[in-house]
Amino acid sequence: MQPIHADITRASTPEPAFYTDPALLLAEETAVFARSWQFVGHASQLARPGDYFTTTLGREPLVFVNDDGVLRGFFNVCRHRAGTVAVGCGRTKRLVCRYHGWAYDLSGRLRTAPEMEGAQDFDKADIKLAPVAVHQFGPLLFAALDPTTPSFDDFYPDLSARCAPLGLERMQHFMTRDFHVASNWKIYVENFLEGYHIPAVHPALNRELDYRAYVTELGKRHVLQYAPVQAGTASLYRDGAGDGSAYYFWLHPNVMLNIYEGLLQTNVVIPDGVDRC
Ligand code: FES
Repeated sequence: MQPIHADITRASTPEPAFYTDPALLLAEETAVFARSWQFVGHASQLARPGDYFTTTLGREPLVFVNDDGVLRGFFNVCRHRAGTVAVGCGRTKRLVCRYHGWAYDLSGRLRTAPEMEGAQDFDKADIKLAPVAVHQFGPLLFAALDPTTPSFDDFYPDLSARCAPLGLERMQHFMTRDFHVASNWKIYVENFLEGYHIPAVHPALNRELDYRAYVTELGKRHVLQYAPVQAGTASLYRDGAGDGSAYYFWLHPNVMLNIYEGLLQTNVVIPDGVDRC
């Protein structure tokens, strides 16, 4: 596969296999998705002690809990014979496996294991659910599957400072929608990473934004694109509190934060095979 040229004036389109090779998607699961911070949910889902929700990252089932104010994540896999310890979402004091009834507390420690008293070399204190790292960024929850992944703030060292003036922590969840797109996930991401298509594809947006002032800034593992709203335009994005500018953040590898005054739209691009997301 052709390397990507560092000089953008020599850029060329990647080979088709970059978007169509199923083996590459498998490699991306471990090399890209497992080793990065992945969006998993909204902080309101874990607002109260005992709140939990389940989800999947790739093929990994996960459960997230509020353990007396500490947000934790675990593989949703019992340490006995891999049963499921939580289903759906709700409030609980214990994560109880539905196969043979082993029960874990919200710190992941095994508390009860029916009929295991006589088992040799078996000590409940040695057994814990396998953890995954969790990080709250504004109203958004992220997790990292691979324990060698740098902390969120090391992974995106300049992101928090850049977002600080935008007041993300004030945002509350309004709605979630799923879109099924017949495209390799990287095509979707690449489309987000260029404003070149705006005049042709989004003429209404183009009338509001000052396209000539469109800016792309590269950060560590993230990109910020922004454009001021044209002077004198009755902007969809203006709420009277600011200048109405639009900010488009991309967080490596698959999260986009579209931020307008008072509004945050989070896009998460999840591969569903090599040709769908
Ligand atoms: Fe969980 Fe047996 S698999 S208790």
